[in-house]
Amino acid sequence: MKFNTVLSTVALLCASKTLAMTWEEADAKAREWVADLTNEEKITLTTGRENMQGVCVGSIDPIERKGFKGICLQDGPAGVRFGKGTATSWQASINTAATFDRTLLRKVGEAQGNEFYQRGINFALGPAMGIQRAPASGRIWESFGEDPFYVAQCGLEVVKGIQSQGVVATSKHFIGNDQENNRGSSTSNIPEQALWEVYMEPFYRAVIDGESNAVMSSYNAINGTYSVQNERLLTKYLKGKLGFQGAVVSDWWSIFDVEKSFKAGMDMNMPGGKYWGPDYIGDSFWGEHIQECIDAGIFPQERLDDAALRIIRTLYKAGQMENFPDVNLYVDTLTEENIALNRKVGADSNVLLKNAEAILPIKGVNKIAVIGKDSMPTKFCEDMKCSDGTLALGWGSGTTDFKYIIDPLSALTERAKQDNIEVVSYGEDDAEGGAEAAKDADLAIVFVQADSGEEYITVEGNAGDRLNLDLWHGGNELIDAVASVNENTIVVIHAPGPVNVPFLDKVKGVVFAGMPGQETGHAIADVLFGDVNPSGHLPYTWAPREDYPADVKYEPEYPDGGEKMTVYDYNEGLFVGYRWFDKQGIEPTFPFGYGLSYTDFKYENLEGDMEDDGLYVTLTVTNTGDVAGAAVPMIFLSFPEVVKDHPARVFKGFDKVMLQPGESQEVTIFIDNHDLSYFDVDAMEYVKPEEGKYTIYAGSNARDLPLSTSVLANGECESENEVDADIDAGDNEDSADEEVEVDAEVDADDNEDSADEEETEALRKRAYKLY
Ligand code: NOJ
Repeated sequence: MKFNTVLSTVALLCASKTLAMTWEEADAKAREWVADLTNEEKITLTTGRENMQGVCVGSIDPIERKGFKGICLQDGPAGVRFGKGTATSWQASINTAATFDRTLLRKVGEAQGNEFYQRGINFALGPAMGIQRAPASGRIWESFGEDPFYVAQCGLEVVKGIQSQGVVATSKHFIGNDQENNRGSSTSNIPEQALWEVYMEPFYRAVIDGESNAVMSSYNAINGTYSVQNERLLTKYLKGKLGFQGAVVSDWWSIFDVEKSFKAGMDMNMPGGKYWGPDYIGDSFWGEHIQECIDAGIFPQERLDDAALRIIRTLYKAGQMENFPDVNLYVDTLTEENIALNRKVGADSNVLLKNAEAILPIKGVNKIAVIGKDSMPTKFCEDMKCSDGTLALGWGSGTTDFKYIIDPLSALTERAKQDNIEVVSYGEDDAEGGAEAAKDADLAIVFVQADSGEEYITVEGNAGDRLNLDLWHGGNELIDAVASVNENTIVVIHAPGPVNVPFLDKVKGVVFAGMPGQETGHAIADVLFGDVNPSGHLPYTWAPREDYPADVKYEPEYPDGGEKMTVYDYNEGLFVGYRWFDKQGIEPTFPFGYGLSYTDFKYENLEGDMEDDGLYVTLTVTNTGDVAGAAVPMIFLSFPEVVKDHPARVFKGFDKVMLQPGESQEVTIFIDNHDLSYFDVDAMEYVKPEEGKYTIYAGSNARDLPLSTSVLANGECESENEVDADIDAGDNEDSADEEVEVDAEVDADDNEDSADEEETEALRKRAYKLY
């Protein structure tokens, strides 16, 4: 251990965390603290510096007169970025989501929060809470899947976990950054009801239930107005309707206009300028231009007061105004506990997609062939911008500096020794070589991959978003060749989301391992050898690309950006993911929630009880097989008929229950009034229907819901237990071929802040003159 590491460890042991406080307490303290600030000091608080030049990815300068140490912000969802191997390289958030385990989600948040805390990082730049509306979208692995309720639940646990450690969680990206191509010069045109029920939902939970201390805006525009200039979203909705008390931080390189962004309600400007905006890189240009705008009457002094207050209130709320550790990015936090937790989440997030003839777990074999470059050690490169060796995380700001990656070949070889199994390997993707290695083995395990990431890096022609859903590096050919010589072939897929699976009928087993972080090899060995019974489930629908309601668009309509934007119409409205497949009567390859186990579960005795605070659903889950395993009972609801054009079923509850063979457990799942509400765009509020009935469906995934019952919205119980709830196309009132038409047209008047073209132009000119 180096001397300075010893010192910082000692310092840590001495420093005690200051407890977080309520918003009210934080507000009182912050008001007192900011009372004597000069405008210059207030501006310092709002203006980010050091675009990736220091140890923080962005920072706010100290105010020495006040003994204020400044603010350090650092990425990101998979752990601390740029840690040079001192921090844990966690699994991708989509893997944490695949566990369907609230306890694990919270624990990951806590463990990550502690790593940020120990480094003196004030703002952890995560979790990401985007909705997976298109499977090729580059950053889907940084968030939690396609379902608004589920993404909200996952985000909430992670926010609470991070903040329990005295670190500010920065929920991102607000809102509608759902693809990478053209993200900085496009508009996501989202119909109002979908905006609230789908895209705002995770932020609703994070802000209201999780008290997320900070929110990061997005690159794109929403309904014609850039997120960073969108007064309707930032000031009216987030701060007004959701009552957000903390600070809104910009994404890097996203602010190009002082008066509009500051006026709209941005509180902190992180560095970098747009390629089509003013020319600056290292710092942000709010700075003294804020004062110039105040002097010119563009926005009032109160806006600056508000932004400064929000920033300090956030720090008080998190307990950071006293005793917060000094910044030291290289404190060693790669502890045994974190390694064990990463391995557990990795193992529990494996989704067993196929297990013909119970080929898994591995048994009764003498020789295994491990095939494919994806089973081999990873070549490390900056921000994971190469795809060479086993894939543990995607690329971009959401990744980490790995100290090591346990490759599958090493882990399987080590584990196989315990059972005296011989392992042979072929660590390339060449089909002929793979077949040669596999032909004499009792079992062949083929590792394959597809990768994606953030737009600023292009990997093998993919500018963030995947170009297609095919496996990379000839994966399909490799699998075909191996399966044609070995009838006991298993495929392990590392990828951010769904891939095309033309090989499905040719192999006996398929495990989807996602992006499991540094302990990836151990995590897959645990499941393949049956030391861990797989219990992961898909947090999204898996289907051919053309079956989804939306897709990534690659070509910019306006390559020069600016106020002319490439348009992404969210015509599917509420019908994201499985909701679309239900409506259109399309059979997915694997439905939302799908995931097999080495045992079987039975669901019975479904009941619903509507109380004043929400709906209590109970059911009995039994492990009917002969090994212990964890079941994930899932609850879907159909809303009363008064709610028009609503999806046939929406996911609203789940639990994870560990059961011994033969064991039964009664499970109660609570669905609160918010989750029983829809967003009424006329009233502009959430409304819980008072008439009609909710139908409750229960089972193991969106297409396996064997139980149903119903409850009256007004609380009287109307039980039709275990009605056959066949989930097929005919079940949906909307006919399969009916076109979904959601009016996504953008009305300029909709955006109060884009009011009058001329006035906007005049303001713009005036602002540019100032700089
Ligand atoms: C851009 C990404 O969109 C955001 O998620 C990240 O936090 C910042 N860069 C800082 O790296």
